[in-house]
Amino acid sequence: MPLLEVEDLRVAYGKIEAVKGISFTVDAGQVVTLIGTNGAGKTTTLRTLSGLLKPLAGKITFDGEVINDIGAHKIVAKGIAHSPEGRRIFPRLTIAENLQLGAFLRKDTAGIQRDIESAYERFPILGERRHQAAGTLSGGEQQMLAMGRALMSQPKLLMLDEPSMGLSPIMMQKIMETIEELKSQGTTILLVEQNAQAALSLADHGHVMEIGTIALSGTGEELMHDESVRKAYLGED
Ligand SMILES: Nc1ncnc2c1ncn2[C@@H]1O[C@H](COP(=O)(O)OP(=O)(O)OP(=O)(O)O)[C@@H](O)[C@H]1O
Ligand SMILES: [Mg+2]
Repeated sequence: MPLLEVEDLRVAYGKIEAVKGISFTVDAGQVVTLIGTNGAGKTTTLRTLSGLLKPLAGKITFDGEVINDIGAHKIVAKGIAHSPEGRRIFPRLTIAENLQLGAFLRKDTAGIQRDIESAYERFPILGERRHQAAGTLSGGEQQMLAMGRALMSQPKLLMLDEPSMGLSPIMMQKIMETIEELKSQGTTILLVEQNAQAALSLADHGHVMEIGTIALSGTGEELMHDESVRKAYLGED
């Protein structure tokens, strides 16, 4: 049984249907990526899985339970964490406070402290600046904080929306290495990326979204070598 199963999901903003019946699964331990052009519905899909948007139709099953209607807090409690597009850290709060907020549903103070320490081990810069306002971090460092914060809920599924957006090549590589490392530690990840090359090279499965539908699916390897994908997303002609 997959950890996450999305069946014929439809999501609309008023009369505009942004997601028009998509289906895919994520198995425990896998990295699955959604790629596709601007406005394809990738962020809408993640926001719906998080309970921030209500589906118009379809079924979302996570860890054996239908979660269509259970609401954002309960979805976090069930084990889905979301590192949103644009990062959305709290700039005036310190790095430590931002991490603490990622654990808002937990009561195990000692465990929370231990996980904050492991975030500092994973991202030493966050440890060095723990008492500094998060808004003073660079874009790449803020991305590290957003990922660290998402991990603070001890998720079974980590959803990352464009973690490499706006980053320098070196910073992008660091973020991709972190995703690779999380994968090797067994973290299940649903990754939305504009950087198709980077995403496909570490994904077990990928889906190409086009105006609200899944146009093409395959292993990361298959999609990376698919001619239409190469033309549309990997800058080849
Ligand atoms: N709050 C909103 N109200 C109305 N329409 C919206 C809203 N948010 C998104 N849309 C529309 O829904 C469609 C899908 O948007 P979405 O943000 O999911 O795309 P995306 O694949 O994440 O794109 P990008 O790669 O640019 O982030 C787009 O046509 C967008 O304009
Ligand atoms: Mg988006």
